[in-house]
Amino acid sequence: MSVREVLVFPNPALRQKAECVTEFDDKLRRLVFDMWETMYISKGVGLAAPQIGVPLRVIVIDWEGSKRLLVNPELLESSGEIRDEEGCLSFPGIFEDVTRPERIRVAYQDENGERAEEAVEGFFARVFLHEMDHLDAKLLIDRVSAVKRAFLKKKLERKAK
Ligand code: NI
Repeated sequence: MSVREVLVFPNPALRQKAECVTEFDDKLRRLVFDMWETMYISKGVGLAAPQIGVPLRVIVIDWEGSKRLLVNPELLESSGEIRDEEGCLSFPGIFEDVTRPERIRVAYQDENGERAEEAVEGFFARVFLHEMDHLDAKLLIDRVSAVKRAFLKKKLERKAK
């Protein structure tokens, strides 16, 4: 059990699409444990497995004490639109306004493969959607305007050198 390194943009592993979890075994449970530890020590409200270099569809969330483990999450429905500020552990110090659906319905599994369905809204829904983006290799920088994206990309790539 250990805290893992959180990969930072432009690490290419963040651009790898994650695969569905098919084995609900001890290896998955170890990954989930490490993800909780890594998220808490990094003071994040959510973490997706690709952010620690594991290309699997696994997410942990703790937003104001509401904790969720999402394995193989699927977006079933979304409605409304809301703009709010968003950050990401893979973009330290960057906070950008992003427009997202206000209400969503999602299906997901737990570490034993049990299926659940849930409706969430507001900022909690935003956290779900942000983390689900990571599974499809979509990043915060892809959700801002083209001008902003070019600016951030240049700045972050320069910083990474
Ligand atoms: Ni993120």
